[in-house]
Amino acid sequence: MFETLTKAPGDKILALMGEYAADTRSSKVDLGVGVYKDEQGVTPVMSSVRKAEERILANEKTKTYLGIAGNKGFGAAVLDLVLGNSGVNRSRIRIAQAPGGTGSLWILMQLINRARPGAAVYVSDPTWANHNPIAINSGLKVATYPYFDAATRAVKFDAMLAALDRLTTEDVVLLHGCCHNPTGANLTHEQWDKVAQSLVRTGALPFIDLAYLGFGDGIEADAYGTRKILSAVPEALVAFSGSKNFGLYRERIGAAILLARSPDEADVTNSQLLNIIRGAYSQPPDHGAEIIRTILEDASLRAEWEAELAQMRNRMIALREKLASAIRERSNSTDFDFVAEHRGMFSLLGLTPEAVEHLKAENGVYMTSDSRINVAGIPEERVGDLADAFLAAAR
Ligand code: LMR
Repeated sequence: MFETLTKAPGDKILALMGEYAADTRSSKVDLGVGVYKDEQGVTPVMSSVRKAEERILANEKTKTYLGIAGNKGFGAAVLDLVLGNSGVNRSRIRIAQAPGGTGSLWILMQLINRARPGAAVYVSDPTWANHNPIAINSGLKVATYPYFDAATRAVKFDAMLAALDRLTTEDVVLLHGCCHNPTGANLTHEQWDKVAQSLVRTGALPFIDLAYLGFGDGIEADAYGTRKILSAVPEALVAFSGSKNFGLYRERIGAAILLARSPDEADVTNSQLLNIIRGAYSQPPDHGAEIIRTILEDASLRAEWEAELAQMRNRMIALREKLASAIRERSNSTDFDFVAEHRGMFSLLGLTPEAVEHLKAENGVYMTSDSRINVAGIPEERVGDLADAFLAAAR
């Protein structure tokens, strides 16, 4: 049987984790996979999460099944978090818990393929390395819309909007809700307004990947685009992740949200989504969901989580500013100032794959081959070394 198979391509982000772990140099720096790191270089269990886990351990009475859509309190709390006071019509919304942002993307892509087999999903150029495989493995086609301007390191908004304006009701547009991965370049609120208007004009289906809510400029600011679009369009999909903002990476906790044209259509569409889940993994695991429910439903744990989230966000912004100013001082140029303007975990430095390889071999600095850095991985005391290394690599 297996002789029919050829080797599948590896994942460049996860492969880098293995390479970094195998590197024995004590000076190595990991700017690769998107996990938050604190001043000690540790990806911590958040204190609000630990307290929630203690409560769960003390109070949990059963481990019986929860149902296909998962933890209902989690679903309601995530909807409150994502939608806020935006006035989105909740009767047309349904939510199902899923294993991580990736699991949410997966079940929603399966849903798209049931509604429109082989539909084209338009992704930003560039996009997260796993978007294409999830779409292709779901039977969908992938196309791109212009997004990142390599010269200015900002969003090519006019070109993006012109491309979105050419889409039809047959198409799906995958948007990064905030904190664009891999570029770090994001839409302004005015640009989100224009994207929403374009989607209303064309009828293309917006599909928002919301994996970094709270990592950019704050929960409210980061949710702006998602709320705007969900308030404007008849149908939409959102893949929410709790991996980064709750630091629950290995718990695999996320949620798939759908907006349909009417409550009845929402029920029918949701029945297909639940059917997909049942036929894939039956029901999601509970632990991560119960942690998030416990935190979001309790005023004091929620305040503690929001403070911890703000601390992570502010640390990443401070590291961005430190790196940009160290480079400015050394080079007398503003060429890397974009690092301070970008938001979220990543910035695309614009180095060649050879320069990235050289940084790894010579300096022990790891980043993905497209020159994406995870700013949270920058050790503060090494900012000067990194500035020197990046400048040398850019020459
Ligand atoms: C990343 O982009 O590094 C993260 O989202 C982790 C992953 O699964 O790729």
